[in-house]
Amino acid sequence: MKIAILPGDGIGQEIVEQAVNVLNALGEKFELESAPVGGAGYAAHGHPLPEDTLKLAKEADAILFGAVGDWQYDSLERSLRPEQAILGLRKHLGLFANLRPAILYPELANASTLKPEVVSGLDILIIRELTGDVYFGQPRGVRTAPDGAFKGEREGFDTMRYAEPEIRRIAHVAFQAAQKRDKRLTSVDKANVLETFQFWRDIVTEVHQEYPDVALDHMYIDNAAMQLVRAPKKFDVIVTGNMFGDILSDQAAMLTGSIGMLPSASLDANNKGLYEPSHGSAPDIAGKNIANPLATILSAAMMLRFSLNKAEQADRIDNAVKKVLAQGLRTADIYEAGTTKVGTSEMGAAVVKALG
Ligand code: IPM
Ligand code: MG
Repeated sequence: MKIAILPGDGIGQEIVEQAVNVLNALGEKFELESAPVGGAGYAAHGHPLPEDTLKLAKEADAILFGAVGDWQYDSLERSLRPEQAILGLRKHLGLFANLRPAILYPELANASTLKPEVVSGLDILIIRELTGDVYFGQPRGVRTAPDGAFKGEREGFDTMRYAEPEIRRIAHVAFQAAQKRDKRLTSVDKANVLETFQFWRDIVTEVHQEYPDVALDHMYIDNAAMQLVRAPKKFDVIVTGNMFGDILSDQAAMLTGSIGMLPSASLDANNKGLYEPSHGSAPDIAGKNIANPLATILSAAMMLRFSLNKAEQADRIDNAVKKVLAQGLRTADIYEAGTTKVGTSEMGAAVVKALG
């Protein structure tokens, strides 16, 4: 089994290094191959998603991704910015289903900004459509307005669109995920204002007929954002479009107080996937050995579960992470009095040790 290792920028290098150590400690025969991506790709080959990196990602069975982005690349034109690497990988590899679990580990109940009783035991799964919507819709650009109240003025514009098969396939992923959990699915849209999302709602409702064992409800994005902080535990699985999912998944991550703990998976139609922490590249703390590697390590566990058919090894990693938290080990982002503060590499080593 071949795994593409794409550490990227900022803390990407050091957190991926720890996840690789964990993978290597499992006693499996994985072929790991690294390549630069994001700002690192631009620095090495003049493009955030160099040809060889894309080729490696395509031929690998799964991809472990760190994070991309660094201030030094902020002034580049859009097509050369680090973010284009992840957007390009999603599009080129057809990674349309983004799974972002938000789980509150009992040991970290105080890390949330919400009251413990509101979030304790939180376990929700956000499924974000990842290759459509206004993120990729054409046409887009800056032009002279052809009509409307500001005709003749300069305007920026993007296009929100979703094709029926695009909605169907993400709905199937969501219903099937709900079947494996508490069998409740909330589809989040803006059907009261947007044609695209009235259509979304209609199609999700149709697909529901194939999953009578799952309870489906629909919620507008603004209300969903509110309910997510009011009573987050009422949710089980949430499915939504690319843009709303981007926002809601950050919000859900923060409910747990520790975005440094949350993994994610981006899957294609055959469960080949790209696995990355939900957080970004945090260039301000890069190279200081203080970043939390657990989200990346848990992403490696998701990779074993969804793409490599190694559920037992995934369980081993998940359990090892629970164990180090129970031992009181904390990186700076989740540290509180009475626990033991450790660095990135110490945390990674502790997980390796806890694998047993
Ligand atoms: C995410 C990120 C990306 C997105 C950026 C880096 C392009 O925010 O994965 O949520 O908007 O999808
Ligand atoms: Mg985001």
